[in-house]
Amino acid sequence: MQALLFTAHGGPEVLTVADVPAPHAGPGRIRVAVRAAGVSPADDAIRSGAWKDIYPIPLPYVVGVDAAGVVDEIGDGVDGVHLGDEVYGVRPAGATTAAHAVLDLWAAKPVAWTWSQAGGAAAAVATGSHALDELGVRAGSTLLLDGASGGVGAITVQLAVARGARVIGTAGPANHAFLRDLGAEPVTYGPGLADRVGTRVDAALDVSGHGDVRRLVALTGSPDAVRTLVAHNAAHGVRLLRVDPSGVPAALTAAAALADAGRLTVPIAAEYPITDGPAAHARIATGHARGKVVITLTTQPDEAAAR
Ligand SMILES: NC(=O)c1ccc[n+]([C@@H]2O[C@H](COP(=O)([O-])OP(=O)(O)OC[C@H]3O[C@@H](n4cnc5c(N)ncnc54)[C@H](OP(=O)(O)O)[C@@H]3O)[C@@H](O)[C@H]2O)c1
Repeated sequence: MQALLFTAHGGPEVLTVADVPAPHAGPGRIRVAVRAAGVSPADDAIRSGAWKDIYPIPLPYVVGVDAAGVVDEIGDGVDGVHLGDEVYGVRPAGATTAAHAVLDLWAAKPVAWTWSQAGGAAAAVATGSHALDELGVRAGSTLLLDGASGGVGAITVQLAVARGARVIGTAGPANHAFLRDLGAEPVTYGPGLADRVGTRVDAALDVSGHGDVRRLVALTGSPDAVRTLVAHNAAHGVRLLRVDPSGVPAALTAAAALADAGRLTVPIAAEYPITDGPAAHARIATGHARGKVVITLTTQPDEAAAR
C-alpha cells in the first residue's frame, strides 16, 4: 500500500510516498481505509529530528497521528463498530498517512464533516477536550487561549463556547475576524497581552508555545489554572498537558454530536494529496495555519489485496 514516510531525519523533502505492507488491526484496534489524515507541528518536529532525543522513533517512519476512513478490519475484543463504518480517530504511535491505518481510539465520523475535516480533527479534539476538562472550563468560565487560530486552537475555541464559556483567543491580526466567527473575542498575542485582555481570566491554555507563560499565570492568578501544550513552556509552575487516552473515545463522540448539531466545524487551512507530503509539512512548519492542514488519500487499487 502507499504510505508517506521518511527514512532519515531532515526537511520536508525527506518525505516520500513508498509502497509498504499494510498493517493489521491487532487486539482492541481497528484498521481503516484512510480518506484523510491530519498534519500537525508534532509531525514536523518528529520528521526534522527536533524530538529525536525525547521521542525516539523507528525508521522508516510513516507520518501522521490521526485520520478518518472506512473500517476494513476489526481486531479481537472490539465491539460497537462494523466493517464499512465511517470513523475518525487517533494512532499516537504514528502511521496514519497511508492507504490503510490502524486506529487505537475512534468514534463515528459526523455526517456534517467532509473527509478532510474528519481526517484532521481527532488529535485536536482529544487535546482540546482534555485541556478543558483539566482546566475545569464550564458555563460561565472565562478562558484565554494563547494561539487560538491554528489546528488545536480553532477547535478548542468552539468546544469551550459549546460549554458556555467566554473565550478570549490570541491570533495575528489577520485572523481576528476568523476567531470572531468561531465565537471567540480576539486579541493580538505578544508583549502587552495582559493590558489587551483587560480582565482576570479563570483559566488559560498555552496552545502555541511561543508566548511567555508568566503572562498567563498573571492573568489567572495561579499556575494551577494554566496548562501548556508545548514542553519548553512547562515552567514557572505551569504543567504540560498530557492527554489521557481513556477519555478520548467519549471526547470524539461528543465532538461528533456537536458537529452534527452545527456547533463544531473544522476549518481547513490547506489540503494536499499524499504525493504533496513535503508541501503539507512545509505549510505546517510556517506556524501560521488557519485551522487544520490535512493530507487526502483516494481509494487505492491495492485495497482489496490488503484484506
Ligand atoms: N501536549 C499535547 O498533547 C499536544 C497535542 C496536540 C498539539 N500539541 C502542540 O500544540 C501546538 C499547537 O498545535 P497546532 O496544531 O494548533 O499548531 P498550528 O496549527 O501550527 O497553529 C499555531 C498557531 O499559533 C499561533 N501563533 C504563532 N505565533 C504565536 C505567538 N507568538 N503567540 C501566540 N500564538 C502564536 C498562530 O496564529 P497566527 O497564524 O494567527 O499568527 C497559529 O494559529 C504544537 O506545538 C503541537 O505540537 C500538543
